[in-house]
Amino acid sequence: MAERRFEQGEVATRLLAWYGRAGRSLPWRQTRDPYRIWLAEIMLQQTTVAAVIGYFRLFLEKFPTLEALAAAPLEEVIDLWAGLGYYARARNLHATAQKLIAQGGHFPVSVAELMQLPGIGRSTAGAISALAFDQPAPILDANVRRILCRLFALQKMPRSVQAEKQLWVWAETLTPQLRIHDYTQAIMDLGATICLPRRPRCTECPLETLCEARRLNLVDQLPLKKLKQPIPLRHELALLLVSDGKALVRRRPTKGLLGGLWEFPGLEVAETDPVEQIHRYCAGGYSVRGISLLGQARHTYSHFRLEIDFYRVELEPEGAVAEQADHSGQWLPLAALMQLPLHGAHKKLLTLITASKKSSSIN
Ligand code: ADE
Repeated sequence: MAERRFEQGEVATRLLAWYGRAGRSLPWRQTRDPYRIWLAEIMLQQTTVAAVIGYFRLFLEKFPTLEALAAAPLEEVIDLWAGLGYYARARNLHATAQKLIAQGGHFPVSVAELMQLPGIGRSTAGAISALAFDQPAPILDANVRRILCRLFALQKMPRSVQAEKQLWVWAETLTPQLRIHDYTQAIMDLGATICLPRRPRCTECPLETLCEARRLNLVDQLPLKKLKQPIPLRHELALLLVSDGKALVRRRPTKGLLGGLWEFPGLEVAETDPVEQIHRYCAGGYSVRGISLLGQARHTYSHFRLEIDFYRVELEPEGAVAEQADHSGQWLPLAALMQLPLHGAHKKLLTLITASKKSSSIN
């Protein structure tokens, strides 16, 4: 690993000058309100700026204050989040709002206190502390991680304990004492627009002449990439139970995996003949008129891959008798299914319904 070849303040000076010329104007940059900044940072975890802008505005219209968010039912927050993905963020957002209101309604200023809140890790805490309160708190999100790995030509796996420690030290050293808000936005923008994962725009980069990876011609190799581990495959059936032109969907319990999201009834493949298995599943409460295969979808989660066979199960008109005892199930027309926050794997199944719609009676 290379020694630092520049003065401590040089990176901040160059970034701030560049940000003045090239920084993006984004809705959450016109405010110092911690509620808005927190909301933006949570939305921007794992989601692009372009995707977030519309949701950010919509969310603030519906929940303009921390109080409004804390008072809303969790299901309403999850439904508004539909399409943004990673729904644990919506659950944590709601839990944090309720916790803060219970504690008096003030946002903590320090990284240590912010990190006590659900869904706020060290980098998000740093961002909120820096952006809302101008505290000299470093951030280390994926973009900054990439910038630092290249700037210092770090040739270690960037998620290793050792590298992580080193990266935080660098992030802290480079963070200036003044103009923290702009510096933090600037380094985020550099990662999002210049120091890109593939084909970075080095000739436009204000740090080009300081960058060790550039000097050593290692930009394309850094950060080092993890070898992909093989993950197990699970095989499931999902059922489009149709009665009177409506399909059954149900909401998963708010606690637990994919909590609060909607799905089609499903079961793990347990035998060689899926149609037999579906008949047995339905025997408890539905009278079946016919079963047909709509198609297959694949979805990858962090710890397993899912292969889903999607079956349409036509019921007798009076066949929709087996409502869930807890009323988590609803019979809805197709247009309403499209609006629901189905979890990712089942969302993919919607395209199969649309494709088969010409020959189907679901409306
Ligand atoms: N990514 C994470 N936080 C961000 C912010 N405040 N502006 C732009 N992109 C971001």
